Amino acid sequence: MISSRFLLLLVSCAHVAVTLAATLPLARDDNLSKRSRGKDATVLILGGGVSGIIAAKTLTEKGITDFKIIEARDELGGRLHSERFGEPGRQVTVEVGANWVQGIGGGEGQGPENPIWTLVRKYGVETRESSYYSNIAMFDQTGPADFSDIFDEYEHDYTELTVAAGARVEKNLVDTTARTGYGLINVKPKTPHEMAVEYYTFDWEYAQTPEQSSWIASSWGNNYTFDVASGGFSPDNQLSIDQRGFKTFIQKEAEFLAPHQVSLNSVVKTITYSGEGVTVTLVDGTKLEADYALVSFSLGVLQHDDVTWEPELPEWKTEAVQSMSMGTYTKIFMQFPKKFWFDTEIAIYADRVRGRYPVWQSLDHDNYFPGSGVIFATVTGDWSERIEALTDAEVQAELMDVLHTMYPDMTDIPEPTSILFHRWWNDPLTRGSYSNWPASFFQEHHDNLRATVDERLWFTGEHCSQKYFGFLHGAWFEGRDAGQELAQCINGGGCVHVREHFEEVRNARPYKVDDYNAGRRK
Ligand SMILES: Cc1cc2nc3c(=O)[nH]c(=O)nc-3n(C[C@H](O)[C@H](O)[C@H](O)COP(=O)(O)OP(=O)(O)OC[C@H]3O[C@@H](n4cnc5c(N)ncnc54)[C@H](O)[C@@H]3O)c2cc1C
Ligand SMILES: *[C@@H]1O[C@H](CO)[C@@H](O)[C@H](O)[C@H]1NC(C)=O
Ligand SMILES: *[C@@H]1O[C@H](CO)[C@@H](O)[C@H](O)[C@H]1NC(C)=O
Repeated sequence: MISSRFLLLLVSCAHVAVTLAATLPLARDDNLSKRSRGKDATVLILGGGVSGIIAAKTLTEKGITDFKIIEARDELGGRLHSERFGEPGRQVTVEVGANWVQGIGGGEGQGPENPIWTLVRKYGVETRESSYYSNIAMFDQTGPADFSDIFDEYEHDYTELTVAAGARVEKNLVDTTARTGYGLINVKPKTPHEMAVEYYTFDWEYAQTPEQSSWIASSWGNNYTFDVASGGFSPDNQLSIDQRGFKTFIQKEAEFLAPHQVSLNSVVKTITYSGEGVTVTLVDGTKLEADYALVSFSLGVLQHDDVTWEPELPEWKTEAVQSMSMGTYTKIFMQFPKKFWFDTEIAIYADRVRGRYPVWQSLDHDNYFPGSGVIFATVTGDWSERIEALTDAEVQAELMDVLHTMYPDMTDIPEPTSILFHRWWNDPLTRGSYSNWPASFFQEHHDNLRATVDERLWFTGEHCSQKYFGFLHGAWFEGRDAGQELAQCINGGGCVHVREHFEEVRNARPYKVDDYNAGRRK
């Protein structure tokens, strides 16, 4: 495929060639001749989620416009995934993916403003303040119950866990699991009530258990987003109820893209790379050539060989990819003929089995969609993977069982008229919901996750963020950083000593957050 200096020839499939004229500013001729002559683009941005779009925006700001976003889905946004849900005539747009701006910031006495919040406000996305820590209904296996004393205690204990993690960092002690951390501060949940509130303060955020999570990284994850004293935004959260979908903020932000800069419905199958450049092959056989590929696929996609590499990725990269964890967070929406449940936004249900449908959120609430008859339950981690193997009807039966337990005196609870949940773990475009940092993931692993391969393969995405892994704003910051660093390389004529890797990870030294942004760690 050929592209001249004044014409970009874009081939979207092997048999249909689409030619688009794009006149490039004369000032850019010198740079252009250095790079994309004879190729489809200078940069192929693989994946059109928050990270990919913000990387594209950043490249554009740096004067680089000959990139192309390759996205498998039929729209941009990635894990911002809105769906119309419910019976005809009673439908609402619900978010099966991300729903909150977590840590708003920017206000009086708060930290910096969360860039996701900036975009949400810029595009007038409708949100509601959502508090996790007040106005919560409680249930156990006998029905309505009040264990707010235990709830308050565990909310406090979670803070203590993050403070004790800080003391460990101070003393240069090694990381352990958050479960070890809880043990060391004498928090040892045994009863259904204790397990449910611990789940609520921990798993419900990280989508994995304290056993599966790093004590230090989970504490940092909390602090850098919510704790103003640690440089976080603020403890506040906003829930999107926008009927255009939460995705609106990023799709609007992506409107600067020209049609030839985006290729939707394009599933990447193979990425071939060398020191000279990259060739990306789509499942339909189309081949695209570029100088660089910026890979923004989720950690789960990288872990599960949905995309193959030629040659295979080096061992140090594979080890980093396999060493970080992918959690799963599943919201199961049900619509009933009418609301029969609690009047609060949130309910906690304490079961004998930890993680069995512990959190319920009512959307039939004055703050959200009154009269909608919609409620949803959340499960995470192993329980999510478990229910993905069940049919919708089987999951519905389990949820109804729990509702009957919560309301033992209610004999006339109707069946839901609609049920919806997304199987994130089995979705080949995600393979889970968002990343989580395990205790066995070291600083060098993290560097290797972000490191370039042969200076040609670049990596971004939520999982590359040391401070904000898991979050939308993590994807935003990583997209911006990758865009900036890549632009520097392109404009400077090469990329030596940028995002270098460690050939072997040998030393479990404590994290070094301070030189995180330095880019050179060797
Ligand atoms: C259920 C759920 C709830 C969440 N809740 C919140 C929340 O409330 N607040 C918050 O801050 N964060 C939340 N998150 C996390 C947040 O959604 C992510 O951190 C963020 O969207 C990740 O953006 P990204 O650009 O890194 O990755 P992605 O959005 O995954 O972008 C990668 C893109 O690559 C595409 N792709 C994958 N494979 C291929 C292929 N082979 N070929 C071509 N394209 C491909 C995908 O379709 C996707 O569009 C939630 C996530 C989930 C799943
Ligand atoms: C988290 O924040 C608390 C409160 O500001 C602080 O005491 C603690 O050291 C921080 N933890 C880490 C791991 O930085
Ligand atoms: C072209 O490259 C040079 C460095 O080689 C850089 O300073 C300049 O900003 C680039 N111009 C554009 C328009 O990107």
